[in-house]
Amino acid sequence: MLRVPLSESPFLRALAGQANTPPPIWLMRQAGRYLPEYREVRAKASSFLDLCRTPELAAEVTLQPLRRFAFDAAIVFSDILIVPYALGQRVEFVEGEGPKLEPVRDANSIVGLSQANAAKALAPVYETIERVVAELPKTVPLIGFCGAPWTVATYMVEGGGSKDQAAARLLAYRDEATFQHLIDLLIDISAEYLVNQVKAGARALQIFDSWAGSLPQDEFERWCIAPTKRLVERVKAVAPDTPVIGFPRGIGVLAERYARETGIDAISCDTSMPVGWMQRLQVHLPVQGNLDPLLLVAGGPQLDRRVGSILEALGSGPFIFNLGHGILPETPIEHVTKLVSLVKKS
Ligand code: CP3
Repeated sequence: MLRVPLSESPFLRALAGQANTPPPIWLMRQAGRYLPEYREVRAKASSFLDLCRTPELAAEVTLQPLRRFAFDAAIVFSDILIVPYALGQRVEFVEGEGPKLEPVRDANSIVGLSQANAAKALAPVYETIERVVAELPKTVPLIGFCGAPWTVATYMVEGGGSKDQAAARLLAYRDEATFQHLIDLLIDISAEYLVNQVKAGARALQIFDSWAGSLPQDEFERWCIAPTKRLVERVKAVAPDTPVIGFPRGIGVLAERYARETGIDAISCDTSMPVGWMQRLQVHLPVQGNLDPLLLVAGGPQLDRRVGSILEALGSGPFIFNLGHGILPETPIEHVTKLVSLVKKS
């Protein structure tokens, strides 16, 4: 299999702890609705999940942003909720409303989840990776990903998105053993999923913990740090050389503990993380982030200034330019072009 050499990829060099001038850039959700060519392919698939499960189309949309912008990494097109789907939970993406799942809220429904068909359900993602890796330029590595057990569990228990993840937090308080069982199952399947993505050709991995910030400290340790640590250990046991980026959104001052204790190789910071704090983290590990996706929608001189200040604060250490959360569908394409040129001429 063709492998991107470390020396030819600023993204992999940054993950190995090196500073780069200019720093590498990619954007979370870089394939998506802000691109007309994505909307065109999306219209061909009968549902969003079908798009994720059709390697030919998923590979095409993975590559689309790379044709327009000089990004330094690609990320396989899929979704974190493919994992509950692979466990046999009903998952649907309702246009304009987001994901809807058949909620699992008690021991019985969690016992009903099974890994028996998971390998088959996840196989299209590995085929997508193989197709993308065959097409990518030699200097652009592919990132594989999964949701963190806690974040995936919030969707599974709630039956969709929510503003406070109340259903999962309540289940974890009321019936710890059942919730632990769900988390253990998610660690198992996610470890296998990430390892298989590496085997298919992913050169780095990212764990999305979008709702890590909704947990009080004790629960944060139990449901975010501990499961992430076990997941990373399981992956490293098989793929010790594959760097893992953690994205624990909204955890503020707990980022230092997360960085120290989970075993991740780099930390992706959300928009609310002060760059001064990112500098402190950068002493210990590479950092990624954290431009406000809304500023990329707005554009103008404020965007130029903020990009400049982020680069000035973090560019002399191991750093990957990114957003603090996924790119928004209303983002003007010219603003992305502008952003990439600002970063590349730094
Ligand atoms: O980054 C990439 O380009 C890779 C693809 C990717 C998607 N989702 C595609 C997607 C990745 C890495 C994700 C991660 C994901 N999915 C997260 C973690 C990151 C975050 O945003 O917090 C979460 C929480 C999900 C769950 C999810 N998927 C939600 C809540 C939604 C609906 C909201 C929305 O933006 O519509 C999705 C749908 C989704 N996943 C879309 C895309 C491109 C839009 C659906 C469409 O095109 O019809």
